[in-house]
Amino acid sequence: MAFKNKVAIITGAASGMGLLAARNLCAEGAKVILTDVNKAAAEAAAEDIRGNGGDAMGMEVDVRNYAQVENAARAALEKYGRIDLLLNFAGGAEGRMLKCPAPFHEMPIDVIDWGLDVNLKGAVYFCRAVLGTMIRQKSGVIINLGSVTGMEGGGNGAVNYSAAKSGLVGLTKSIALCGAPYGVRACCVSPGPVLTRPDMANMKTRLGRAAEPREVVDLILYLCSDKAAFITGTNYMIDGGRSCGGME
Ligand SMILES: NC(=O)c1ccc[n+]([C@@H]2O[C@H](COP(=O)([O-])OP(=O)(O)OC[C@H]3O[C@@H](n4cnc5c(N)ncnc54)[C@H](O)[C@@H]3O)[C@@H](O)[C@H]2O)c1
Repeated sequence: MAFKNKVAIITGAASGMGLLAARNLCAEGAKVILTDVNKAAAEAAAEDIRGNGGDAMGMEVDVRNYAQVENAARAALEKYGRIDLLLNFAGGAEGRMLKCPAPFHEMPIDVIDWGLDVNLKGAVYFCRAVLGTMIRQKSGVIINLGSVTGMEGGGNGAVNYSAAKSGLVGLTKSIALCGAPYGVRACCVSPGPVLTRPDMANMKTRLGRAAEPREVVDLILYLCSDKAAFITGTNYMIDGGRSCGGME
């Protein structure tokens, strides 16, 4: 029960790694607010966790909307009285998520905005909304989900995704600087392909496979734990060696 009575806010928690992190944190004793733009799925996931004995609530939050972001932070404080962890999972490549196959130079501006706003501005908004509470508590951990694509470029359909994900590295270092005097830590975790979707198996890595979601979530939970108390401001590649270079 490494996270007994810790309170976590998770964005993009209705599916994939965000949902797995919510489940695993609850299994380790945490109280979790699952936020997602998909209200029905976030609430259903929280209900499922409660059905298995966990403490969770689901909330509709579009990370691009600061009023909704602030509302989630307020709800966490009203229900649980503190915020120990913020995990920023909401994101995805704009071309795929919005089913827009256009090349970058023909991409509608609203698709470009989506790529930047969900992947970067949403994390900035949530950091803004919780950092004051963590500073007052003199403790807290923020994890931003980067990507190997933020390090190597994304090409058509993922130009803004790549720009945003590399931006999260700067955001992470900046929040680490703001939080360090108060014992608040921030880390970025940048995965290569992860099997939250079967097609990720097509992306090459040096180890010849994609990651299982639990492999990434295990790293994140380690960084959230007291075992990682001396780690802040760093970006962790977890990409099967893809960032060593030379991969297609
Ligand atoms: N799967 C991979 O191969 C991989 C690789 C590198 C990085 N990542 C990153 O890890 C994170 C999680 O990936 P995943 O594969 O588990 O994703 P996923 O697609 O399963 O989950 C993303 C969640 O974000 C939510 N979301 C979308 N727009 C939102 C918005 N405006 N506000 C709030 N929530 C919103 C979706 O509803 C969804 O539940 C993402 O940031 C992704 O970019 C994934």
